[in-house]
Amino acid sequence: MRLTRRNVLGVAVASTVAAAIAPAAAFAAKPLTIGFSQVGAESEWRTANTASIKDAAKKAGINLKFADAQQRQENQVKAIRSFIAQRVDVIAFSPVVESGWDTVLREAKRANIPVILTDRGVKVSDESLYVTFLGSDFVEEGRRAARWLVEHAKKNPNRAYNIVELQGTVGSAPAIDRKAGFAEVMKLEPRLKIIRSQTGDFTRAKGKEVMEAFLKSEGKNITVLYAHNDDMAIGAIQAIEEAGLKPAQDITIVSIDGVKGAFQAMMAGKLNVSIECSPLLGPQLMAAVKDILAGKAVPKRILTEEGIFPMETAAAEFPKRKY
Ligand code: AHR
Repeated sequence: MRLTRRNVLGVAVASTVAAAIAPAAAFAAKPLTIGFSQVGAESEWRTANTASIKDAAKKAGINLKFADAQQRQENQVKAIRSFIAQRVDVIAFSPVVESGWDTVLREAKRANIPVILTDRGVKVSDESLYVTFLGSDFVEEGRRAARWLVEHAKKNPNRAYNIVELQGTVGSAPAIDRKAGFAEVMKLEPRLKIIRSQTGDFTRAKGKEVMEAFLKSEGKNITVLYAHNDDMAIGAIQAIEEAGLKPAQDITIVSIDGVKGAFQAMMAGKLNVSIECSPLLGPQLMAAVKDILAGKAVPKRILTEEGIFPMETAAAEFPKRKY
């Protein structure tokens, strides 16, 4: 039997077996290794998420093998297979899209390597293919964005709410869930209407490009922008200004993440509200890794706690922001 951390930890006879095969000091000195496949570097949020994971691994004394998938699922599948071949102790990844993971996750399970999902969930036929999913409730974020607009509409009874929506990456959990949560709550106010909706792939450049197209076709008919992340909203703000309109005044802007760039835009009076989605998942991830390898039970879903930041609160909150 090949003695690995996985089949030693959590087994009652583990220490006896280990002592018989390897000197205890040598065994204890081997650091845990996790393989982490990141979505990419598409947004300010993602950069902060990567920094949080690298920093937490260092602080926890965990050896991190990090792979950037550049927003491509095939790169993530390759990275996961390479982590399996290298026999890492735990695989963690933030899946670029929701579906298409069954095969590779079955391979990880056969290799007896626990898998943790961070930030984004997956749709799989067998939930035992991953141990836990750690991250935000994206549906609730969409609901919060719509609730803020419903309240805004109550205070402005004569205003039109013609919404253009900048969606995140097609097929990704945050794009699907933020759209669904928003659609669910916007029904409460019949004046809220989505007139155009397109992906901006979570990037500033695409957010700007798609907003330019929206403005070209809809012009002043647009009164609200709902962006699935701050980066796309920031790109769109540029397009709105270049079109001679005032962001946050002519067009009410609601976005998600709560990155520093969004706070700066709010302080400049160009963004109305940002719904928080915390990228600071590193410490919770490392704690989950240690618990799993120690054989402790971890919840199937670990949620992060998040707030809502309207522009009026931005100046007071900005100094406290960590990302
Ligand atoms: O999965 C989280 C989302 O991915 C963030 O909202 C977005 O900015 C990022 O790229």
